[in-house]
Amino acid sequence: MNIEKIRKDFEILSKGIIYFDNACMSLKPNQVIDKMNEYYKEYPGCAGRSEHSIGKRVEEEVSRARRQISRFLNAKKESEIIFTKNTTESINLVANSFGLKKNDAVLLSDKEHNSNLIPWINLSKKIGIRLKFFEFGNIKDFEKKLSSDVKLVSAVQTSNLDGTSQDIKEISGIAHRKNAKVLVDAAQSAPHKEVDVRKIDADFLACSGHKMLGPSGTGVLYGKYEELSKLSQFISGGDTVKDSSYDSFVVEDIPERFEAGLQNYAGIIGFGEAARYLEKIGMSSIQKQELKLNKIITENLKGKVSILGGNDHNSRQGIFSFNIKGIDAKEVAGILNSSGIMIRAGFHCCHSWFNANKINGSARASLYFYNTEEEAGKFAEEVSKIIKLAK
Ligand code: ALA
Repeated sequence: MNIEKIRKDFEILSKGIIYFDNACMSLKPNQVIDKMNEYYKEYPGCAGRSEHSIGKRVEEEVSRARRQISRFLNAKKESEIIFTKNTTESINLVANSFGLKKNDAVLLSDKEHNSNLIPWINLSKKIGIRLKFFEFGNIKDFEKKLSSDVKLVSAVQTSNLDGTSQDIKEISGIAHRKNAKVLVDAAQSAPHKEVDVRKIDADFLACSGHKMLGPSGTGVLYGKYEELSKLSQFISGGDTVKDSSYDSFVVEDIPERFEAGLQNYAGIIGFGEAARYLEKIGMSSIQKQELKLNKIITENLKGKVSILGGNDHNSRQGIFSFNIKGIDAKEVAGILNSSGIMIRAGFHCCHSWFNANKINGSARASLYFYNTEEEAGKFAEEVSKIIKLAK
């Protein structure tokens, strides 16, 4: 991987910033921005409605993007990819369409971010489903909690609060033997390592384009075709039906029945380009680069700060989430920002875990493949200065 060449694709990096907030939002390469501009400049129409050549071109480009993302996740069919706004919307789609009934249980890990927690809490208030929790990564606890009333397991693959992962393949194998379906939250795994929906045997999988070089406001829900065909519509309206009268309608095929209204065409097309870019670099090279950088940071700082997820960088992929004794995480982020280093601090949308563990948030550096060893070294140096200040 030629980092210097890659960095030229991300123009903002030439401004000298050290961008370590990739778990929240990745940067976008010129190829993605150019592809979106191409839509606005050359074929700014809508898909699925118009017979003219611009409309047809949009249709072709959207279906190319679907093909690219379907290949990226190794789906069996392109139609198993539904475009949404983000991981949150994808999870809401399943929550509201899966057909859960009063007293059905949904099993979540204890490290879900709000996207994979609040929709289920709302459903429990609305229709009386029961929520159960297992300890993230603890398969024995998972098996214990997987009672016969659990109809759906909805679990994160890689935690955004500390970067650790759990074995989703094992989870789905066990869940399927007990007739429960599995929804995987891959928001933090799909951008950073190979995610193959067939290998992990996910029934559904959600991820966001904006964390994997794509534009903001883009996401997908993958679903096995037979599982998607059992879902009811969530957001309904234009383009989701073949025909309608004043009191009935004929639903569209999959995936269109789940993609209501005019879509974010530029975003979808840009997301497809992002998947192509990642594929070209190779997910295993991306994973290696992040681990290399995290090793530098961890070796310099372990023992001096408390690291969420433990001292072994290998288990935390590209995330270094930490606290310095005597100084608030937000203050740490503010000081780093004045040195040109951008990180996120706070609860990382995982208030539930931080509250349960009585930890008042953390400062989180989240890396991507375009970050360098020099940046990792500078980050460790600046954090060391803050440690001295805090003493
Ligand atoms: N879940 C996103 C993050 O970790 C927003 O920053």
